[in-house]
Amino acid sequence: MNELTEKVNKRRTFAIISHPDAGKTTITEQLLLFGGVIRSAGTVKARKTGHYATSDWMEIEKKRGISVTSSVMQFEYQGKRINILDTPGHQDFSEDTYRTLMAVDAAVMVIDSAKGIEPQTKKLFKVVKQRGIPIFTFMNKLDRDGRDPLDLIAELEDLLGIEGVAMNWPIGMGKTLKGLYDIANNRIELYRKDDADRFVPLDENGQVADSELAADPQYQETLESIDLIKEAGNTFDKAKVLAGDQTPVFFGSALTNFGVETFLQSFVDLAPAPSSHLVNEDEKLPADDPTFAGFVFKIQANMNPNHRDRIAFVRVASGEFKPGMDVTLARTGKQIRLNNATEFMSSERVRVNDAVAGDIVGLYDTGNFQIGDSIYAGKKDLVFPPLPEFTPELFVRVTAKNVMKQKSFHKGINQLVQEGAIQLYQNYQTDDYILGAVGQLQFEVFQFRMKNEYNSEVEMNSIGHRVARWIDPDQLDPAMSSSRNLLVKDRYGNPLFLFENEFAMRFFHDKYPDVKLTEKL
Ligand code: G4P
Repeated sequence: MNELTEKVNKRRTFAIISHPDAGKTTITEQLLLFGGVIRSAGTVKARKTGHYATSDWMEIEKKRGISVTSSVMQFEYQGKRINILDTPGHQDFSEDTYRTLMAVDAAVMVIDSAKGIEPQTKKLFKVVKQRGIPIFTFMNKLDRDGRDPLDLIAELEDLLGIEGVAMNWPIGMGKTLKGLYDIANNRIELYRKDDADRFVPLDENGQVADSELAADPQYQETLESIDLIKEAGNTFDKAKVLAGDQTPVFFGSALTNFGVETFLQSFVDLAPAPSSHLVNEDEKLPADDPTFAGFVFKIQANMNPNHRDRIAFVRVASGEFKPGMDVTLARTGKQIRLNNATEFMSSERVRVNDAVAGDIVGLYDTGNFQIGDSIYAGKKDLVFPPLPEFTPELFVRVTAKNVMKQKSFHKGINQLVQEGAIQLYQNYQTDDYILGAVGQLQFEVFQFRMKNEYNSEVEMNSIGHRVARWIDPDQLDPAMSSSRNLLVKDRYGNPLFLFENEFAMRFFHDKYPDVKLTEKL
């Protein structure tokens, strides 16, 4: 095996998807502790800016320059190089959150075992599932009373349509939590025990020698559940896992660091190394192809008005990144020298030295890049498929505050829309501008950048949450539009309705049963 292949095979690049408060930050922190990147819990937590107002966020960004340090966290574990890509939630949920999922090779889904599958998890899951990459599930907060584990597994299939296969099973829960019956490793992992005594081996029949434990009613109950899932549940199938059709389920408690290491070990074992990417529509580019190629999946603007630069996040898809290398930007055919790049560590930003396929590099950008851009070294064109666009859920009407400054207003909007910062629609009849986003922060960043980069103050009036559905132009009759279902066109001129809510959509559907409405991702 050559050196590059060996390096690529060590990479494990993933994102954690969850609903706010399920425990993503807590588990990330534990993973970083195992990776030796941080020394004490609380480091990531302190950075978590979930309870900040947006203005504080802007302040933080200003002080720190571009905040990229926690966007990608990298560490070594059991000889593997792990890259965790952050998927912001809460107020900083945006299209970037979705696009980040285009740059990973696997996802970890963290579920609060008292709450089960929540809306944001469902949305993120949909995007991951569509990519057909493996999804690993961590049922968190086992130290609290939660729902019946059998229910939780059934819910995966019922709500998400993915088979769940238990890798371990709780013995007790909440105050009565005793441990985990670790099916995959044929052992018991006891709760609140130190390293050495934590694991109790099981015999070849999956029975424990310890008579006290064997007689414990909770343990007995666990055995019954395990018999049940062995008989009626799904059996582990690696091919299905790799295709994203089955998710291995691990139980645990991130807060008390229980079951997290067992999870990480299995994850490192089962999660795939970077493989190939589709290029030029129908060719496969192997990850260990020696030619460097990658695509931009996120652009983070600097919120400091004195520094207009931004960082383009590039997922390396093949080859090796070398600082100072010349690449071609596929969209324009322009040659660009990549001098100023950073790799990410959780504690600091460092200059890249050995980024290969699977890794993420941050390129300082003065306006060359757009989201979805392909870059490559070598003579052959390598163009990655466009990144999907996601259906916005929040909408505002936008106008220039100063009517004399229409030119900079239009220029700013067009550039930010092209960059992928926000989506633009126009009222079908009046041509008024309407912006769409998946998260509120996108509007605020838009407003800030319009003022600072284009000297254009904008006024935004919310039209709130809307359900966007595209309609076949041949079926369109402008009379179908009303205040409850606003008719607009997207930037390609395709018509769509912005329904006030699901109810308004159903009402429309009942009224025009033959009209087909479609949703994007
Ligand atoms: P998030 O990033 O997914 O939004 O969740 P985060 O890790 O911040 O966790 C949300 C809350 O859930 C936190 O409590 C955290 O301590 C708690 N939590 C996470 N994992 C577990 C677990 O395994 N068991 C229990 N019991 N709680 C867990 P908080 O009160 O909101 O924050 P804090 O101020 O206590 O840190």
